[in-house]
Amino acid sequence: MNILIITGGSKGIGKALAEKYASQNYKVYSLARSITDLQNITQISVDLSIIEQLEKTFLRLFDEINNNKISSISLINNAGRLGKISNLENITTKDIFKSIQLNTTTPLILASLFIKLTKRLHVKKQIINISSGAAIKPYAGWSIYCTSKAALDMMTKNIAEEQKEVKNGVLSFGIRPGVVDTEMQNQIRNTKETDFKNLQRFIDLKDKNELFSSEFVANTIYKLDREEKLINGETVDLRDFV
Ligand SMILES: NC(=O)c1ccc[n+]([C@@H]2O[C@H](COP(=O)([O-])OP(=O)(O)OC[C@H]3O[C@@H](n4cnc5c(N)ncnc54)[C@H](OP(=O)(O)O)[C@@H]3O)[C@@H](O)[C@H]2O)c1
Repeated sequence: MNILIITGGSKGIGKALAEKYASQNYKVYSLARSITDLQNITQISVDLSIIEQLEKTFLRLFDEINNNKISSISLINNAGRLGKISNLENITTKDIFKSIQLNTTTPLILASLFIKLTKRLHVKKQIINISSGAAIKPYAGWSIYCTSKAALDMMTKNIAEEQKEVKNGVLSFGIRPGVVDTEMQNQIRNTKETDFKNLQRFIDLKDKNELFSSEFVANTIYKLDREEKLINGETVDLRDFV
């Protein structure tokens, strides 16, 4: 059985990915706070920004996964948050902590556990990290988000560097999905221009119907994955493949 564990499978890009892989006969497990209307997907309710819940939930999930005959196993680190959009001095300590935890620390912890817990498995093993153009381009008002995604890209590189030395190691990929029509974009468009000087660009993209749909992004990621077009250690931009 092909297994996919995805964070943030309850809505947006994560939901579309969970549904796409489930439609291709993957056994899909989604970790998110809310439980939504998803068919053939095991949903686990967990706040991934609360460190105490993380390890216990993941270990319990692996107990269940280990009952299957596994032919491949993937982890998609997708859950993410922008936090409050404004210049750094206007962001609270709590908000900074929460965004770095969800966007960077949680993927590091889950990747660490994933590598450890799949060591005995001699099947295809991979981690796909959902990054952002914000990892390589600064946006005033997004300092935490940009920083967290840049760190995620380095994690993608580092895991590949470590695992290529390991027999049957874990592959590590990153993807920038482009600008996608999800709640995250809603949040961006609802920001005050005084907090986000690029606001108009994102309003225009929506007005001109230039946002990708989550389904399009999920189909493209699945295709790249299936055709083995992703490059170990690298973060690719989906727009280069469409
Ligand atoms: N949309 C874009 O234009 C865009 C562009 C570049 C990169 N991305 C990246 O793509 C990924 C998905 O974004 P999206 O646009 O689909 O966002 P979204 O619609 O806001 O969905 C975010 C997902 O993350 C989950 N999540 C958020 N906080 C969580 C927490 N504390 N614990 C567990 N799950 C949590 C949410 O589930 P619950 O609310 O149920 O917990 C939801 O499933 C993110 O990493 C984002 O940075 C998006």
